[in-house]
Amino acid sequence: MKNGKFVLRLLMVLTVFLVANIIFAFIAFHITSWIYSWLGKHPHGFWQQFNTVIAVFVLFACSAAIIFLLGLKKQRNYWDTIVDAIGRIAKGDFSVQLDLKSDEDNDHFGQLISGINNMAVELGELERMRQEFISNVSHEIQSPLTSINGFAKALKNIDLSEDKRHHYLEIIEMESHRLSKISDNLLKLTSLESQHHPFEPKLYRLDKQLRNVVLSLEPNWLEKNIDMDIQLKHLSFIADEDLMNQVWMNLLSNSIKFTPHAGKIRLTMTSQHDTVTVVITDNGIGLTEEQQKHIFERFYKADQSRVATNGGSGLGLSIVKKILDMHHGSITVESKLAEHTTFTITLPLQS
Ligand SMILES: Nc1ncnc2c1ncn2[C@@H]1O[C@H](COP(=O)(O)OP(=O)(O)OP(=O)(O)O)[C@@H](O)[C@H]1O
Ligand SMILES: [Mg+2]
Repeated sequence: MKNGKFVLRLLMVLTVFLVANIIFAFIAFHITSWIYSWLGKHPHGFWQQFNTVIAVFVLFACSAAIIFLLGLKKQRNYWDTIVDAIGRIAKGDFSVQLDLKSDEDNDHFGQLISGINNMAVELGELERMRQEFISNVSHEIQSPLTSINGFAKALKNIDLSEDKRHHYLEIIEMESHRLSKISDNLLKLTSLESQHHPFEPKLYRLDKQLRNVVLSLEPNWLEKNIDMDIQLKHLSFIADEDLMNQVWMNLLSNSIKFTPHAGKIRLTMTSQHDTVTVVITDNGIGLTEEQQKHIFERFYKADQSRVATNGGSGLGLSIVKKILDMHHGSITVESKLAEHTTFTITLPLQS
């Protein structure tokens, strides 16, 4: 395709060269004839032809110089446009989109223009995400702070009963805990995304790890009288133990949090040739199809009305997803509102 275009261009240049020479020869012949008759001298045939050839050459050189200067000006305009676009991008204007003529599609200049256009689109998207992130963080921090501020003011009232005072202090403590959890989760997520987070895979017993996480959450599920059904088999695999601990902790605490009193949680594990699958099912509040599409997004909380009571930051599943990505694993959710939620995690046995 590229060769065909090149041959076509070469043929066009040769044709223009030939036609231009014929025209120049014609003009040169007439100019020299006119000069001879004006001077009243008619040189010898050889000199007449020699002068015509020189005139053709001069004409050709002049037109080549004009074409070259015009081309140079056009090229300078191109570079000015590019430099201007890069300058605007550097100042934060990501709406820049340079015109790409169809004949420039494949040449180097066209590639440079598409590169600049793509860069502007991607930087614009990053900027949009950054602003959304900042607004989410401010929003998340704002509500516990307002609450702490309000109850601290209420505590100044000297006529407050001991019970109320205690209750307000408990709320302040809970909201401070929530703030600290948001900050912890944000730090963790940022660190995981920075590429500098330590990733130390090693061989360990996955079944043991899952059992330990369930045990450490025992006070939470016992308090709600949840029936914990665990079916695990002896299995060792290679992964970062600390990071995977966080995955199981986040998923199981979600299941406990979103399952009502006397509910049921089931934890099973199966292994295939080179992968292991862990399934966590609960018969809790469940999720609609629309909610399922968003739960791995940062700060997403499906049921806003329960947020205050659950005190989550909506970052737990984003952290889970990030850690599983680092292990080349995957997570899917299947749920029905008010019936059940199932998370299926698949991991390679050797990350
Ligand atoms: N097992 C579940 N059953 C029902 N809904 C769930 C379940 N797990 C997660 N969700 C929904 O997904 C949302 C996002 O979960 P995620 O773990 O990211 O945040 P969170 O639990 O609200 O806060 P955090 O984990 O940061 O404390 C939750 O707010 C909840 O609405
Ligand atoms: Mg959570």
